[in-house]
Amino acid sequence: TTSHTHSYGQFRQITKYLYRYKNYNFAAGLTTAEYIDSLQSFEIRDSDIFLVTYPKSGTIWTQQIIISICELAGGLNEYPNNPEQMPWLEYRKKNENYSLRPSPRLFSSHLTPALMPPGLKDKKIIYVMRNPKDNIVSYYHFIKSNVILIDISFNCAVAGGSWFDHIREWHTKKEQYNILFLTYEEMILDLKAAVTKICTFLGKNLSEGDIEQVVEKSTFKNMKKDPKANYEFVPKDKISGNFMRKGNVGDWKNIFTAAQSQRVDHLLQEKLGDLSLKFIWE
Ligand code: A3P
Repeated sequence: TTSHTHSYGQFRQITKYLYRYKNYNFAAGLTTAEYIDSLQSFEIRDSDIFLVTYPKSGTIWTQQIIISICELAGGLNEYPNNPEQMPWLEYRKKNENYSLRPSPRLFSSHLTPALMPPGLKDKKIIYVMRNPKDNIVSYYHFIKSNVILIDISFNCAVAGGSWFDHIREWHTKKEQYNILFLTYEEMILDLKAAVTKICTFLGKNLSEGDIEQVVEKSTFKNMKKDPKANYEFVPKDKISGNFMRKGNVGDWKNIFTAAQSQRVDHLLQEKLGDLSLKFIWE
């Protein structure tokens, strides 16, 4: 274990593949503490759109929705695929300098508010949350197939840190941002309603036909066939499993014991009970 102090606090190597920095766990090799620090002076533009999630909550799904909406609304720049169109702010592929990107810029992120560029306050953020039980199951399968994450056990820690911290921090800081909160479950329940909500929030005027088109492009079945959106372009020697795995609600019931389920219920109450959040999966 190595441990040293950076300008913003402790940096601690947890495993070969994971380090802790500023109360958050980062997958080693994907980003550096210096780059994360540099986000404190990253310049946000009015036209930027941010999608924030805890990993495995429906990120690539919502990416597809936002990108499809912006494409139909017009003026989006061309990129080869969704993650290049809407990159993770904290992970710089090919060391790209996002400050040089032409507007409008779309970003994804798994970060917590404290790690975000301060200029993001008052700007539009879409936050998607998923039932933690399904989130764990999805993450478990993802980690198993991921060369970078495989070494990280559940007893230890996962990239992204604690789900409970993520939910708490974004919900308690919500007054400082302009956030649309959505859940994976409501998107499953009524995709068209979710697409319409996102569209309205982003101030994009789409016709009924355009909305239908976004819905069509974003169904599990169609996204799985969409080479720009299905993440099959990720090399199999990096991630052998599918990003588009099952895409349903309640897979946890096939896996959790009653005791495990109760443990999550108990943790939800203990760690988030005071926030009186309404969880739609209940
Ligand atoms: P499962 O592993 O439960 O199937 P993220 O994008 O945050 O990594 O989340 C991945 C989860 O979202 C996976 O869940 C994946 O199948 C699901 N997903 C991706 N696209 C989807 C879609 N169009 N409809 C429903 N679920 C989708």
